[in-house]
Parts: sequence; structure tokens; C-alpha cells
Amino acid sequence: MIEDKISGVVITFFSTASAVGKTLISINMAAELARQGYRVCLADFDLQFGDVANYLQMQGSTTVYNAGQRLAENSDYPLEELASVCTYNDVSFGVLAAPEELSQAYNFTADTAERIVNRLRMHYDYVIIDTTSMFSVLNLTLLDLSTIITFLGVVDFIPTIKNMKIGNETLQSLNYDANKIRLVLNRSDSATQLSIREVEEKTLGSSFYHVLSNDFHAANESVQTGIPLVLRKNNNQLTKDLRQLVALYTNHTYQEDADFDEPTRKSGGWFSKLFS
Ligand SMILES: Nc1ncnc2c1ncn2[C@@H]1O[C@H](COP(=O)(O)OP(=O)(O)OP(=O)(O)O)[C@@H](O)[C@H]1O
Ligand SMILES: [Mg+2]
Repeated sequence: MIEDKISGVVITFFSTASAVGKTLISINMAAELARQGYRVCLADFDLQFGDVANYLQMQGSTTVYNAGQRLAENSDYPLEELASVCTYNDVSFGVLAAPEELSQAYNFTADTAERIVNRLRMHYDYVIIDTTSMFSVLNLTLLDLSTIITFLGVVDFIPTIKNMKIGNETLQSLNYDANKIRLVLNRSDSATQLSIREVEEKTLGSSFYHVLSNDFHAANESVQTGIPLVLRKNNNQLTKDLRQLVALYTNHTYQEDADFDEPTRKSGGWFSKLFS
């Protein structure tokens, strides 16, 4: 039976607001797991506006659309041979970027996504999925397939918190295993008048599983250079928080063992083109 061969852990990043850090954190999750020696593939299912390839400076990468086409021709196609590889010194992981054209995104079905994820799970230890901020058929399919759903939120404005509450209640209503949904707060110390404790107690009814610091400078530099924070020696609090999240997911004790060669990437790629 095909199911017997499926083993990889699927970690999906989801939210009910945009720009809460799904892409940045999924990239760092993939990089840190790869650094620890796991076989990892990062798949961008933000079909229309995916940023994984931009953030990693890997424009032109194999896309989920390409993967879906191959599987339509041959359902056993080894996607690990098709996926692009993102490499920093001796750390590498597979990447399936978002489709290059809107028409490819528009015609992409949830069934295709399911076939891709199930195929990836046969080879990789971890499949990391980046999504969009909506309860669509595609996203519900991805959430169903996931081992862990990282439901990301930020505490900034009332509408964002209202949508986080709706999202949390909707996820709870899906009757997943209690351990499957991890409520994670990003940009925790950004300037806000709202108390995190109050949001937890009065709005969400549950506490955050993990909290990530706000560090505009570090996040921005990572996006500009294409190097995930966890692969830098620079031990700022956000990087520590990201490593800690991975340690929690892998049931490891967090160790500050950033003893590796820092990769270099040319800066001024896609990001600088936006402003030229
Ligand atoms: N902890 C953080 N501190 C500071 N800036 C952050 C943090 N996390 C993410 N950012 C920044 O916030 C912006 C949005 O992040 P990102 O693109 O990962 O969000 P997203 O949820 O994927 O957005 P979208 O819904 O548009 O796909 C980026 O510029 C990123 O660098
Ligand atoms: Mg994104």
C-alpha cells in the first residue's frame, strides 16, 4: 500500500492575516532542520504571490506547478530529483517554488497539492509548507495533510486579533488532535498598546505555544541577502527564538551550537530591483 511508504513530517505555516511571518519562519524552519541533518523540502503553496524563491534568491526554481505536471504524467515520479536545491556551505534543502504564472496558479487544484505533499513525504524527513491567509479548499487540504499546523499571529491591531480568534476557533472546530495546532506569536515586542496576556486569556482562550521576537533589522537583512537567520552566526534574540521553535518541534533540547561557517550571498538581488 502506498500509505505504508509515507513517513515524512509535514509542518504547515498558516495565518488569518498577511505579513505575519509565514514565509520568513518557514524558510528558517527548513534551513535549521537541514542544518541538523534532516532531509527537508520547502514547498510554496502561496500560489499567486509566493515569496520563498525571492527570499532565498532562487528565482527560476522548480515550482509546485512543475511538480504537479510530472506527477500527472507519472504518479511515482521522484520529486526529490526535480526539486531545486538551496545550498549554503554544507547545508542544503529542496525547494518547490510557487508557480511562475498566474494562470498556472489559478488552475492548480487541491488534489494536485495533495499528490505532491504525499509524494514528498516518501523521500523527505520534513516537508515544510508555506501558505496564504485564508480558509480555501487548497489550504484546508494542506491543513488536513499536516502533522503540525503552525498557526501564526501577531498582536497589533484589533481586526488582526479578531481574525486570529476566528481562525483559532475554526481550527479547533476541525477536531484535529490537540497537539497538531501550535499557536505561535510573531513580532512579540513590536510597539503595541495591546497586552499579550489579555489576548491569550480574553480573546483566544489559549496561550501561545511559542513567541518570536520582533527584529526588523535582522529580518530585513535576511530577506535582502537571501540567507536564513538560523544560518548566520549573529546570535540575536529572533534567531534564538527560531532555533528554539525547531527544537520544540523535533523534541530536542535547544543548544546554542552555531559553530559553522557563515554562508555568503550576493546582496542586492530581487529586493533591490523592487526599488530601482
Ligand atoms: N519577527 C520579525 N521581526 C521583524 N520583522 C519580521 C519578523 N517576521 C517577519 N518579519 C518581516 O515581516 C514581513 C512579512 O513577513 P513574511 O513575508 O514572512 O510574512 P507572510 O505571513 O509570509 O506574508 P504573506 O501573507 O504576504 O505571505 C517581511 O518583511 C519580514 O522580513
Ligand atoms: Mg508569505
